[in-house]
Amino acid sequence: MKKILITGGAGFIGANFAHHLMRHSDCVVTVLDKLTYAGNSASLEKLPRNRSTLVIGDIANAALVDELVGSHDTVVHFAAESHNDNSLRDPAAFIRTNVVGTYELLEAVRKHGVRLHHISTDEVYGDLELDDPQRFTETTPYQPSSPYSATKASSDLLVKAWVRSFGVNATLSNCSNNYGPFQHVEKFIPRQITNVLSGIKPKLYGTGKNVRDWIHVADHSSAVQRILEAGESGRTYLIGADGERNNLSVLQQILELMGRPNNEFDWISDRPGHDLRYAIDATVLREELGWKPEYQDFTAGLASTIDWYKEHRRWWAPSKQATENMYALHEARASEAIGS
Ligand code: NAD
Ligand code: TYD
Repeated sequence: MKKILITGGAGFIGANFAHHLMRHSDCVVTVLDKLTYAGNSASLEKLPRNRSTLVIGDIANAALVDELVGSHDTVVHFAAESHNDNSLRDPAAFIRTNVVGTYELLEAVRKHGVRLHHISTDEVYGDLELDDPQRFTETTPYQPSSPYSATKASSDLLVKAWVRSFGVNATLSNCSNNYGPFQHVEKFIPRQITNVLSGIKPKLYGTGKNVRDWIHVADHSSAVQRILEAGESGRTYLIGADGERNNLSVLQQILELMGRPNNEFDWISDRPGHDLRYAIDATVLREELGWKPEYQDFTAGLASTIDWYKEHRRWWAPSKQATENMYALHEARASEAIGS
């Protein structure tokens, strides 16, 4: 039975991946998670106890990481500070977790000869024009825009250097925007769903024309599992499901599915440096590894995600007020800066 260490497994995608492995493999997992504001041990409550353990700790803690990595076969590295808006306000934690934390993991997998799969984002490639026929591929040059994407790009480059210089056995994947259950209410889709459920108007940044390439988190999990089975060390795989949509249309769909008028939202000031469009070409993953997404009906995926948030109010309600307070403070500061 394989022993897999999942960093950041109490977060959105890591928790979904842990549940996925329980259903689709016989491995045992250890989740290493600091339980920051974004981590929630409740997301792991339904994992079978005999196949899963939660260790609360920091990936930047070299001694802890060394000990844990040494007793596992594979590390799947999701842990990160993951929200662009936070990275614009306070980048320090992004450097520490995303860069230093990844470095500590690399040193441990190098020492113990353990396989690593590093989870990253398409945001390392910067953004595309709305009418650009190109999409991101494995050879697109890195051009990150925000402190978040710059730290993810840094972590990717560290992984590639450790493969080349030290022969570390590692694969990488860069995925587009995920949606689905267990996503923190700070992110676009859950924020708007839980706003409607809380009697707050949804908030749309800027023009609403920015495009994101949406993938259901279950498809991200199956892609990572496929890369663990058949990916080649040193390779990068792009994960995407041809789900490009602009923010206005996603928001209007949420409102319609929730029985609200589709203009019942606030336009608010834009995110500084806001990337215009992301789009993934996942041909390599599809053709070389034979992966394909299962959740390509976005309306159905959105409807089931809305149902999940309706049914799991106790999961998200404790963080809702703090998240909206944080956004209100940020909005007030942005307006002051414009006025001064
Ligand atoms: P998330 O913010 O929901 O979860 C991150 C988890 O990491 C949390 O449980 C948090 O407690 C934990 N964590 C943070 N700092 C830590 C530290 N120092 N030590 C240990 N644990 C720590 O993020 P997510 O959306 O699940 O993203 C997971 C990964 O996937 C990230 O690497 C992110 O860059 C990448 N990714 C996310 C998306 C997306 O759409 N959300 C898309 C592509 C790639
Ligand atoms: P987000 O979920 O933060 O993901 P990312 O920045 O990684 O793409 O945001 C997705 C898109 O939604 C992005 O273009 C910013 C926009 N957005 C809003 O319009 N309103 C919001 O309240 C939030 C949180 C995001």
